[in-house]
Amino acid sequence: MRRKLLIGNWKMNKTRGEAEEFARGSHVLTALAVKKNIDIGVTPPFLAIDVIAKYNPKLILGAQNCHYLPKGAYTGEVSIEMLQDLPITMSLVGHSERRTYYNETNESCNKKILALKDHSLGVIYCVGETLDQFEKGLTKEVVKAQLDEGLKDVADLDNIVVAYEPVWSIGTGKNASKEIAEDVCKFIRDELRALYGDKAADKVRILYGGSVKPVNIHDYLTMPDIDGALVGGASLSVDSYLQLIENM
Ligand code: PGA
Repeated sequence: MRRKLLIGNWKMNKTRGEAEEFARGSHVLTALAVKKNIDIGVTPPFLAIDVIAKYNPKLILGAQNCHYLPKGAYTGEVSIEMLQDLPITMSLVGHSERRTYYNETNESCNKKILALKDHSLGVIYCVGETLDQFEKGLTKEVVKAQLDEGLKDVADLDNIVVAYEPVWSIGTGKNASKEIAEDVCKFIRDELRALYGDKAADKVRILYGGSVKPVNIHDYLTMPDIDGALVGGASLSVDSYLQLIENM
């Protein structure tokens, strides 16, 4: 039985002060999550990570991005070693906003995943097709390439979560139907089965992301291959986050 997982991706939102306010109010979230046997966490901006840890160490904490090299002349970047000064246990890799605005590729995602594994950190690897690719019926082809290339030479799926986030659904209010989401999440599990075998594929957690809200989260969780959600906008307030957990 896979434990449900809910991760709030805060993107470029919240100052340290705002993060503190969230964290101080978030004990209702972690208490309810324990009761419901759900893992919950957030990926705040780098600067707010220590604040969350200070005021609610029970939230799982992750980075939104990382560089795969330990150090060097890469202005504006943050290495995994630097992140390990903070109480994070994982990092997002390949979020569509990183792919779209910062030229992240399956190849660069692969380097990051390998480096995170090397440092014994977890990964939430984000995959998903654009609207154009969706309309052309290319979803599975695109996702397969993201998996094959992103996970190249990755020895096992330990500590790896895959998030299926159709780009057309992120921040648009147009969430994928639960049937579409399940179809692709099952496809992802089958691909992982082919690459890593039954045991690993049955164990790996696969999330859906893209306009997940308190009103629709439950639908996804009723599907056999969806183990939780990666949520942007609806994870920013304690009230809304609480409703997400309540409805899971
Ligand atoms: P959204 O973002 O829930 O605001 O659509 C999801 C994400 O980008 O992970």
